[in-house]
Amino acid sequence: MLLLDNVHKVYGKNKEKKVEALKGINLSVNKGEIFGVVGFSGAGKSTLIRCVNLLERPTSGKVLINGVDLLSLSKKELRQQRKKIGMIFQQYNLLHSKTIFQNVAMPLILDGKPKQYIKEKVTELLSFVGLEDRMSHYPEQLSGGQKQRVGIARALATDPDILLCDEATSALDPSTTESVLDLLRKVRDEFEVTILMITHEMNVIRDICDKVAVIEGGVIVEQGSVIDVFTEPKTGITRSFVRTILNDDTPHSIKELIKANSGKTYRIIFKGNSTNIPLLSDTAKNFSVDLNVFHGMITELQGIPFGNLLVNMNGDSEEITRAIQFMKDREAIVKEVTHDAL
Ligand SMILES: Nc1ncnc2c1ncn2[C@@H]1O[C@H](COP(=O)(O)OP(=O)(O)OP(=O)(O)O)[C@@H](O)[C@H]1O
Ligand SMILES: [Mg+2]
Repeated sequence: MLLLDNVHKVYGKNKEKKVEALKGINLSVNKGEIFGVVGFSGAGKSTLIRCVNLLERPTSGKVLINGVDLLSLSKKELRQQRKKIGMIFQQYNLLHSKTIFQNVAMPLILDGKPKQYIKEKVTELLSFVGLEDRMSHYPEQLSGGQKQRVGIARALATDPDILLCDEATSALDPSTTESVLDLLRKVRDEFEVTILMITHEMNVIRDICDKVAVIEGGVIVEQGSVIDVFTEPKTGITRSFVRTILNDDTPHSIKELIKANSGKTYRIIFKGNSTNIPLLSDTAKNFSVDLNVFHGMITELQGIPFGNLLVNMNGDSEEITRAIQFMKDREAIVKEVTHDAL
């Protein structure tokens, strides 16, 4: 559906002012997927999303939507294609002198649609986002969450295949964020719209995305399904993002306790099927090892139970090796944690 192939973006012309914001981005988003890109400030997120609808033209590489390379299109053809790409922004970008109705109608007016069609479409969209009673209000009469709903309605006016969201919830409080994310999920489910969202908030990724890519310094350092990336982050930056919501930092007093103990310490991560079985007690029954849980939590990701425990194991080293294999055979991820890495 959406494919970015080795996309580079360099800002500035002369040497001193050159900024290489994207350094060879490869990304593939399937139809109906909600794909999140997360990264710190300055990582290149906005540049990346703006390269998808050519608000920024990539310096090199390809942007393919349903197999069509946007960079090869004429101005007129690009205008047609852009109708299939909606976008919402952190600051909503509504026209303050226009009513809510007029804001949502704008893309249809620009597209030369008949009046009656516009009236019906805008009414339907405002009802979809729950603001049909606010049609004649102006943006400043709405809350942030309501303004973003108007932004979503406007983005859907031209029946897009893709919706791009640039930090769409970053200006909202947690409960409003949740309701806007629910609405975006409804957009995907009811209109089969593919959603590409960039954010610096890991809770947004956890709550709504199917897949996630982590961007750092204009490079995608890691990508995969949300459950895989959250359970087995491979890079330091991903681990730090995951930590912001899984809260698996070991408290100081527990670190001291672990250091004072003999035996080895392991992080045991289990998801899906392995959460249904009494993994630790089965292990303790089958092998001569003492298991001591120091820290951890069990929660849910994408509707799948997910556990992350810090466990001390004491016993004969061969027995420990077999116990670890036993847990791995039951789909748990078991990794030794050195005291320095706690
Ligand atoms: N128009 C521009 N001209 C020159 N440099 C730019 C321009 N826009 C962005 N940059 C630079 O490109 C890099 C990536 O910026 P970008 O806005 O894509 O980051 P971001 O991940 O969206 O950050 P934030 O989370 O703060 O919005 C930064 O170093 C930035 O200074
Ligand atoms: Mg940005």
